[in-house]
Amino acid sequence: MICKAIRGTQDILPFEVELWNFVETLAKNIFGLYGFHEIRTPIIEDIHLFIRSLGEATDIVEKQMFVIERKDSRIVLRPEGTAGVVRAFCENNLYNTDPIKKYFYIGPMFRGERPQKGRLRQFYHIGVENLSADSPFSDVEVLLMLWKLLGRLGLKEVKIKLNSIGCQQDRDKFRGFLKEALKDKVKFLCQDCQRRYERNVFRLLDCKNPSCREVVSGVVDGDGFLCDQCQEHFSFIVEKLNSYGVGFILDKFLVRGLDYYNRTVFEVVHPGLGKGQDALAAGGRYDYLVSQISAGKIDSPAVGFAIGIERLLIAMDKEGLVDGFLEGQNLVDVVVVYQDRKFQNHAFNLVAKLRDLGIAVVMDFSGKSMKAQMRWANKVGARFVVILGEKEVAGAEISLKDMHNGTQFSVSELELGKSLLKLIKDS
Ligand code: HAM
Repeated sequence: MICKAIRGTQDILPFEVELWNFVETLAKNIFGLYGFHEIRTPIIEDIHLFIRSLGEATDIVEKQMFVIERKDSRIVLRPEGTAGVVRAFCENNLYNTDPIKKYFYIGPMFRGERPQKGRLRQFYHIGVENLSADSPFSDVEVLLMLWKLLGRLGLKEVKIKLNSIGCQQDRDKFRGFLKEALKDKVKFLCQDCQRRYERNVFRLLDCKNPSCREVVSGVVDGDGFLCDQCQEHFSFIVEKLNSYGVGFILDKFLVRGLDYYNRTVFEVVHPGLGKGQDALAAGGRYDYLVSQISAGKIDSPAVGFAIGIERLLIAMDKEGLVDGFLEGQNLVDVVVVYQDRKFQNHAFNLVAKLRDLGIAVVMDFSGKSMKAQMRWANKVGARFVVILGEKEVAGAEISLKDMHNGTQFSVSELELGKSLLKLIKDS
């Protein structure tokens, strides 16, 4: 090995990819029911997009972005998807041309965090953004959609943590209160929180450090900072989620680490993910971001979320949902084996015909012995083996072996494709 994968990145191997595809396809199908359509934005973006949208004092902007320095610009590997989608929405005039304005995306994100299980430097998001979200029904809708997806994946131990952080005026009031209430307690906070007190006091609320928690919970009672409209907005969502039986808990300490949110914020947590990174998905409302990125040209309230696929799969694994899935998988349906090298060409042509019929099939090209080819077919996990021998090539009768029950039978070469299709369908 001349080098290994970079720390904090991981290979997604063929069997695992099947699981990823399954999750992604299910998500796409569910999102489609709600009118969300796929958008693909570049992985590299101008650094200013994230500095302006996520906020200068956020952990991501302060220390986690992978920056590529060019002669006349600074480009970053996107740390998240929302800002890029909003940029694309404004830049491509989707505001005027798209009557639905609901998007989803699936792709890699990059953050220079200290790697550990469930915390990577390259990880994947399945994200959705509704960029036309005036009503609290929109918040409810994305949460129901997320809940449906998690339910369809079979997850039982997930919980949604929910909070409202209010509008800008509420935030200003709350910020002032926090600053004042914590003024004399800063010295009892961890180093990060001491910095946060100056730069972004809300982040003190979700510090995981127990001593910071104690200080902060002593001063925050959580209620009282929401104006009437924000309170009404939030109560509507809570009521509606209750009526749909969604499993959520109200958490007044939930503030989220990105600056663009207002009103509704949420995280989906799972006990199998461990402390510090127990969220497998997160999101919320961001009513000012479109206006901010379009430099005031467009005003469009928005709400969305992103699921971290790796964490989702860890949670599924903890609930025993992955093994069963992988066990049922095979990479191909059929292996064609040949008795003698002189039949290789015949086998090759047969394989091509079967593929034309939509059958997944492989053969060995190296000229292994028949026995070795059979062993390989077993390893490959193919359900059926087609055997080409002297007799078969001469008589146009092909032998077929069912690898699950060991039975062997003959079919005419003409009928082979049809028979295999039926057998695969019934198996
Ligand atoms: P976020 O909370 O930064 O939100 O990321 C969403 C999810 O991505 C997390 O809950 C977690 O599952 C996963 N994630 C984050 N960082 C890592 C990491 N280093 N390794 C593995 N997984 C990770 C956002 O990015 C927002 N853009 C979500 C959103 C969309 N809000 C509105 N629309």
